[in-house]
Amino acid sequence: MQKRTLITALTVAALCSHAVFAQDNKFKIGLILPMTGPFASTGKQIEAAARLYMAQNGDKVAGRTVELIVKDDAGTPDTTKRIAQEMVVNDKVQVLAGFGLTPLALATAPIATQSKTPLVVMAAATSSITEASPYIIRTSFTLPQAAVSMADWASKNGIKKAVTLVSDYGPGMDAEKYFKDRLLLNGGQVPDTLRVPMRNPDFAPFLQKVRDIKPDAVFAFVPSGAGAALMKQFAERGLDKAGIRLIGTGDVTDDDILNGMGDVAVGVVTTHHYSTAHPSALNKKFVEAFTKANAGLRPNFMAVGGYDGMRVIYEAAKASKGVGGGDALLAAMKGQIFESPRGPMFIDAQTRDVVHNMYIRKVEKQNGQLYNIEFDTIQDVKDPGKAK
Ligand code: DHB
Repeated sequence: MQKRTLITALTVAALCSHAVFAQDNKFKIGLILPMTGPFASTGKQIEAAARLYMAQNGDKVAGRTVELIVKDDAGTPDTTKRIAQEMVVNDKVQVLAGFGLTPLALATAPIATQSKTPLVVMAAATSSITEASPYIIRTSFTLPQAAVSMADWASKNGIKKAVTLVSDYGPGMDAEKYFKDRLLLNGGQVPDTLRVPMRNPDFAPFLQKVRDIKPDAVFAFVPSGAGAALMKQFAERGLDKAGIRLIGTGDVTDDDILNGMGDVAVGVVTTHHYSTAHPSALNKKFVEAFTKANAGLRPNFMAVGGYDGMRVIYEAAKASKGVGGGDALLAAMKGQIFESPRGPMFIDAQTRDVVHNMYIRKVEKQNGQLYNIEFDTIQDVKDPGKAK
């Protein structure tokens, strides 16, 4: 080889390795969320929580600069999948995260598998999601965790006959099945199972049906943001006056919109993994910092799923020291155990799903504001959907 050619070759090699180095020196997280459309509050909460985590923990992990790339999928599965593909191929993200609804996570699962990219589910909560790809880790919760806990509480508290009322898609099906099976096992009755459309639901005809059946309670699940409409129509149809109790998963009394629901929400008992009012020092600090950074916005369970998801990603990047790619990151995500604003939390290495406490909470007014006040705890609840 001539000297000149050799020098050119060396220069090109140096430039290439520099380019690779520059790229490698970034740790990119692709955060895909519904930022517009009916589920925009989920995106807003999670993005705010991810940015708070970064503000508190810096943007350097394992010697690399963290870059958060946030994209809006408007809650449409095809869009989520396309964005994920672009993020993996063009942006070369190390991790995919977000996933505001079950269909969005399921549509994207094959991208995670094919590209060996860890996918952190921060919101969606259908049990089966983690089985859709071995690269999926979940930091939100599962509906069976909340529904089984609610059925047990109901059986011990005078609710023998309950009708279920759920959104007609994945998490609603889980809520219905696990609540019903458990209530029946406990000797209760479920005379009807009602399903409302996921988008723009009109609860009135379903609530009328509940009124006619006259059960002790109606057990409800609706996705984050939809609880206010349910609560309003529950009161308008006079179900409370007819002596029918409203119980449900904590999605119904979502902290984000609870204050706007008014006194009809007072006394409603739900089960969930997170309340803004969770009485721990860590949560008080989290709520204070989040509220301050977001013009008074209260963090809800979506925010906590996002905040904890960032923790899992940061700690995995640190532990794998930025080498070994997606497989090393995934391995370092499994088995993480830490204190979250929700309380103690654990990523089960076998199922890649979250194990955490379920709290029984009642809506109460404190200092003129409505809160989900926790009054009982079921510790270290694994996803009942996987305990087969
Ligand atoms: C899902 C979405 C929600 O907003 C929620 O509160 C629970 C579950 C979901 O689509 O999985």
